[in-house]
Amino acid sequence: MDATERTPEDDGRVAVVTGAAGGVGRALVDLLVDQGYAVVAEDVAPAVERYWSGGSVVPLRVDVTAPGSAEQAVATAEAEFGRLDLLVNNAARFLRKPIADSTDEDLDGVFAVNVGGAFRHARAAVEALARTRGSIVTVTSISGLVGMPNQSVYAMTKGALVQLTRQLAIELAPRGVRVNAVAPGAIDTDFIAEARGADPDPEATAAAVLARHPLGRISTPEDVARAIAFLASPAASGITGTIVSVDGGYVAQ
Ligand SMILES: NC(=O)c1ccc[n+]([C@@H]2O[C@H](COP(=O)([O-])OP(=O)(O)OC[C@H]3O[C@@H](n4cnc5c(N)ncnc54)[C@H](O)[C@@H]3O)[C@@H](O)[C@H]2O)c1
Repeated sequence: MDATERTPEDDGRVAVVTGAAGGVGRALVDLLVDQGYAVVAEDVAPAVERYWSGGSVVPLRVDVTAPGSAEQAVATAEAEFGRLDLLVNNAARFLRKPIADSTDEDLDGVFAVNVGGAFRHARAAVEALARTRGSIVTVTSISGLVGMPNQSVYAMTKGALVQLTRQLAIELAPRGVRVNAVAPGAIDTDFIAEARGADPDPEATAAAVLARHPLGRISTPEDVARAIAFLASPAASGITGTIVSVDGGYVAQ
């Protein structure tokens, strides 16, 4: 089945998506709505309140590191739409720095968003997802699977998310909740804009990154969104504990 195809099972399903105002998040919310989902679209950026107004998307402007934000997202899904079928842990911060320059604040700050946010959302969603035999999809990265320079803090967070995915897949399988992840290679979004701004030769860096993607292209937000929607769909009902690379072959090398 095409991952973008709408099935009768999709109608009436409800998702919480973190980082919804970003490149991947926006593509994903739009795809899920096309597939018949209602969505709580969560982001710290004010833009989240501009992209969708009413209907089947409820924007929630919160910081995933704020105490209670995960519980608020789950409660909003259940209050507005009556259930929760899917949690997508997508919000993240990037950091490109040599280890010697990476501060304690960098370490704590990036972990708090990327790992703490995903952990607390998963914890808050367990009971609601068990009621619907729903699923969790977390967005990790090739940086969580293979080594690369100047990403030690970011890569540690993405590696932690790989292991959180496997751990929760086993822990929650008896309750019928599937837990998977996607691991994108480079994606055409604003995610690394700050790092690009600090790069003395961003064009050379971009060319080198592209050269490491065997398909000769970097992913689009829609490529990643389709993989997430597939893992959440009934077509993936036999899949749990899996990390799906959306990387043009990067980690196959
Ligand atoms: N862009 C890439 O090259 C790339 C590569 C591999 C993996 N990823 C992963 O893809 C996912 C989506 O990233 P993207 O490329 O769409 O980037 P993006 O910057 O466009 O989107 C990330 C979103 O997360 C939000 N966010 C950040 N901190 C937050 C917080 N504390 N609370 C709530 N929201 C917060 C941002 O406001 C932003 O809207 C991330 O998990 C990222 O690690 C991206």
